[in-house]
Amino acid sequence: MPVSVVVGAQWGDEGKGKVTDFLAENADVVARYQGGNNAGHTVIANGVEHKLKLLPSGVIHDHVQNVLGNGLVVDPGAFLDELKGLRAKGLNPKIAVSDRAAVILPIHRALDGASEDAGAGIGTTRRGIGPAYTDKAARMGVRVGDLLDPAALRERLAALIPERLALLKARRGALPGHDLDALLRDPTPYVAEIAKEYAGYGEAMKPLVTDTVALLHEKLEANAEIVLEGAQGTFLDIDHGTYPFVTSSNTTSGGACTGTGIPPTVIDSVFGIVKAYTTRVGGGPFVTELSHEEGVGKHLTEVGHEFGTVTGRRRRTGWLDLVLLRRAVQVNGMTSIALTKLDVLGGLPEIKVCVAYDVNGTQTTRLPARTEDLAIAKPVYETFGGFDTLGKSAIVKASREGLGALPTEARRYVEAVEDALDVPIELVGIGPGREQTIDRRVHG
Ligand code: GDP
Ligand code: IMO
Ligand code: MG
Repeated sequence: MPVSVVVGAQWGDEGKGKVTDFLAENADVVARYQGGNNAGHTVIANGVEHKLKLLPSGVIHDHVQNVLGNGLVVDPGAFLDELKGLRAKGLNPKIAVSDRAAVILPIHRALDGASEDAGAGIGTTRRGIGPAYTDKAARMGVRVGDLLDPAALRERLAALIPERLALLKARRGALPGHDLDALLRDPTPYVAEIAKEYAGYGEAMKPLVTDTVALLHEKLEANAEIVLEGAQGTFLDIDHGTYPFVTSSNTTSGGACTGTGIPPTVIDSVFGIVKAYTTRVGGGPFVTELSHEEGVGKHLTEVGHEFGTVTGRRRRTGWLDLVLLRRAVQVNGMTSIALTKLDVLGGLPEIKVCVAYDVNGTQTTRLPARTEDLAIAKPVYETFGGFDTLGKSAIVKASREGLGALPTEARRYVEAVEDALDVPIELVGIGPGREQTIDRRVHG
């Protein structure tokens, strides 16, 4: 199965990093297709934890060619820092960056922060993701390839920056270390400063910047195993998510084609990554949300260590939501599922699953389009029996022997989710480590 997509099925942080790293063992290429350093993908390999933000989760494996596809927004300073951090840990990943990827500028981070400070309520990561994609769509943006041509870079920045400074002023924002009013009167020195800084990044990145579309097609011709790694999750997708509480890219599997130049006709499998319960970080409706202060919500937060990888914010937690997941199966064309963090449900007396919504007294299994309807939807639950906390030896045994070695109620839960979604659950995560995974393709 040469080309597979890994896609988050909920609101991100489902365990895409762990699953991508698991699949990368047998892959030649791992390519990210959208987003930027708003992602936080955790990979634990040989007892060492790596928190990847912009780099693909294949970087732990020396044999993997990692690719940052054209669909990304790249903050060059953050990129170089992350790479330096990995090298300091003794890793030497093979990385290629698309010359067509969009570039995040300091003004994008400032605009993102200003919107949040003004009370937009999305709760973004403040990394400049939305404003950078805005400029891409407005056909005003800088691309990675431009960083290698200082004269063209200066020209693009001279056209873009004054307009964006005016917007920042309108949003009552600030640029750290600068007097915004002075910049508005004469932006020329600031444009020159950014052009110099970013040309410097271009110089440093030059050996890694390439036409990744051509590279990926060479790999396809050589029948290489390619994993396309999504960031965020289905309900943060700009089209299919809980708009406007979304990110600014297509996180769903269609984005894997536009964000890499790999056509849909060569994709063989789509791995949906489903956390065994639901989390969300940032604002927006969340039908199955529980209080983090007591009971099940507190258990999920504490046992699941539900704190953001990028911003450290506490993630909101709730029961599994099949209304969301059925839609995620449809829009992504999932061919298989990795159900992660099943171990976190251990120790709960009962486990609930949302099977429908009650919107103003009417039950529906269809996801409402409007945030206002989602905000008033009440969950309709089905209840399953709980199971005891999985001990260390139980985890080792189940990872080696398969689902049959898990407590009956844990197995029933997995089978019930599989039946409800009608997609095979091929991997089951029962711990954060690479080896704490049940591979049902091997064990059944
Ligand atoms: P991503 O953004 O989808 O890659 O997910 P994150 O890395 O942000 O968050 C997932 C968290 O759960 C990380 O801390 C992982 O180490 C951890 N994790 C992944 N799979 C499992 C699992 O099966 N069980 C447990 N207990 N933790 C897991
Ligand atoms: P991974 O790849 C969870 C959320 C933010 C905010 C919204 C928009 O680790 O699953 P943005 O900075 O993208 O403009 O913020 O999206 N968000 C994530 N939530 N996991 C992520 O990435 C996320 N990336 C962005 O919290 O609600
Ligand atoms: Mg994450």
